[in-house]
Amino acid sequence: MKTQGRSETRPRLQARRVAFDLSRSPLHWIPGDPLSSHLINGINLLLPAGELWFCRVYNQALPHITDPLLREEVQGFIRQEGMHAQAHRKAEKWLQDQGMDVTAYRRRVDFVFQQLLGDTPLGLKPLQHRWLARHWLIVRVGIVAAVEHFTGLLGDWCMNSESWDKADPVVADLFRWHLAEEVEHRSVAFDLFEHLCRTQAGFYLSRQALMALVFPLFLQFIAEGGRSLAGQDPDPQVRRLARRTTLRILLDIERIGRRNDNVPTFSLILGRTLRWIAPGFHPETEGDTAQALAYIARSPAANAGAKRAAQGALH
Ligand SMILES: [Fe+2]
Ligand SMILES: [Fe+2]
Repeated sequence: MKTQGRSETRPRLQARRVAFDLSRSPLHWIPGDPLSSHLINGINLLLPAGELWFCRVYNQALPHITDPLLREEVQGFIRQEGMHAQAHRKAEKWLQDQGMDVTAYRRRVDFVFQQLLGDTPLGLKPLQHRWLARHWLIVRVGIVAAVEHFTGLLGDWCMNSESWDKADPVVADLFRWHLAEEVEHRSVAFDLFEHLCRTQAGFYLSRQALMALVFPLFLQFIAEGGRSLAGQDPDPQVRRLARRTTLRILLDIERIGRRNDNVPTFSLILGRTLRWIAPGFHPETEGDTAQALAYIARSPAANAGAKRAAQGALH
């Protein structure tokens, strides 16, 4: 199906190498805010498996794309997400070096992305049938589009927030570089999902159904990752945060976000998600590409990665 909101003037997506050293970064990298630090640290454990799953799904979708410009964007998207997964794998190692046991949470994440959302979830052989396999692929492309709505909105929040200026510069830059690229490629998943759906009605209804599924699961996974790390914190006061329910954590982030903007408020996440319901919604209006590219241009990790790549090319 022809996509509605795509423009031929979008910059070509490129994978940027990053180089960063987390060895001196503290676990509580947002000063005085262990809950926000752990919630965001937990995202490091979710991203490598999730983004590599994006890449697998998108590689399968490539042969079904009939629009050459969209195919090129999807290829750029795959390269960027692959790089993100690598960077956050390093951050996962940093958490392990600080004594965090990540195996239990990682096992749950891997189960979701490798088993439940794999080609034959829970060994369901009928999904190997050509027709079903194609529809299961489109459903997964739709799930990626819904998740990318969150990465795009978090990116837009991050590009407009200055609270992390007071945080550990290496961790803050790792997430800011990543989130800037999320803003840069925020429309690709949506456009691909629209392209693969047969009708506008089918596209609209399935994108609403998938968001209804992804919205609570996304929040649950973020809360769970934060709890899994907070529960191992050396400070017993912080360990008590691990007993908080997901609802309580959402109320906490509402309070923290309003007070010092260390995390986006729950009301911002909810409000931006409700915009997805509009039939004419398109992610293009949900962020500022020039602002994101300006961040990447000054990102220490992206600059160090570019320098290293250039040196590598010379040798
Ligand atoms: Fe990403
Ligand atoms: Fe992304």
